[in-house]
Amino acid sequence: RQKLIIDTDPGQDDAIAIMLALASPQIDLLGIIAAAGNVSVEQTAENACKILELTKRQDIKVYKGCPRPIRRAPITAAHVHGQTGMDGPDLPTPRHEPEKQHGVTFLLETLAAHPANSITLVTIGPMTNLATALIQAPETVGRLKQVVAMGGAWSETGNITPAAEFNAFADPDAAAIVLNSGLPLTLVPLDITHSFLITPDRLEALASLTGQCARAAHAMLNFSARFDLNKYGWPGAPLHDPCTVGYVLAPHLFAGKKVNVEVEVASPLTLGATVVDWWQVTERPANATFLRSVDDAGLWSLILEGLSRLP
Ligand code: BDR
Ligand code: CA
Repeated sequence: RQKLIIDTDPGQDDAIAIMLALASPQIDLLGIIAAAGNVSVEQTAENACKILELTKRQDIKVYKGCPRPIRRAPITAAHVHGQTGMDGPDLPTPRHEPEKQHGVTFLLETLAAHPANSITLVTIGPMTNLATALIQAPETVGRLKQVVAMGGAWSETGNITPAAEFNAFADPDAAAIVLNSGLPLTLVPLDITHSFLITPDRLEALASLTGQCARAAHAMLNFSARFDLNKYGWPGAPLHDPCTVGYVLAPHLFAGKKVNVEVEVASPLTLGATVVDWWQVTERPANATFLRSVDDAGLWSLILEGLSRLP
């Protein structure tokens, strides 16, 4: 089984990513770190607890990470995800609270306690916690097997500014630290996620499942779909974050290339934009596998099948 830690700011699409991980017998989820992003870290930690309550996995612990980006004022995306960050379903108040231990400490202690190269970290929010861990203890973070991160955009335009994707824009300094860390990193950018939509037929397929998790997933994605339909005129909302867990489970569904990726940290106009040297026109070293295409139908069956296995 693949040992996984998810660093997340749920987020309807984050919630589906977590559910997909919990549904898979191939994954051993060691813990969830809450990130400040779509909404505050207090709220994302509570949302993570709600997902664990819903999936009846209160055995998995939630650790609150950093409350704000490394050197900028926090921004949120409540205009996309609703006031709770996870609007849509009516979820009961969770019986468990986040742990007292800080998310960054949890990450470092867990890495130190497991063999090197045995844990995958999936980040589906701004990368503040991973960057902070890298500043604190780079050798320990170097024990990660790999990082799979939803973030960035290249051939797609941005979704929070014309130039930038939300997770990269919310903490570009953290993204820069991660990109320059030498960690084995795979990026799942908007180039992938804007082609992976929750269309009306997919929503219908989800509605035909009977479990409480599938019902909640349906309500969440119905909420997201309405936003994206109004805003972009698309037939459905992009299912950003589940693509990362999909990649961990079935990398053969994706194609990309190991290239140099840098992130803008200075220009107010293009802050958080990722610059991808796809054609290797510079001497800059390759530092990330940048995914550009996905088997859309294959990934959707993986998700639907996963959701159908949950309570
Ligand atoms: C990313 O931003 C968030 O709003 C989503 O949850 C996803 O992680 C997409 O840009
Ligand atoms: Ca997210």
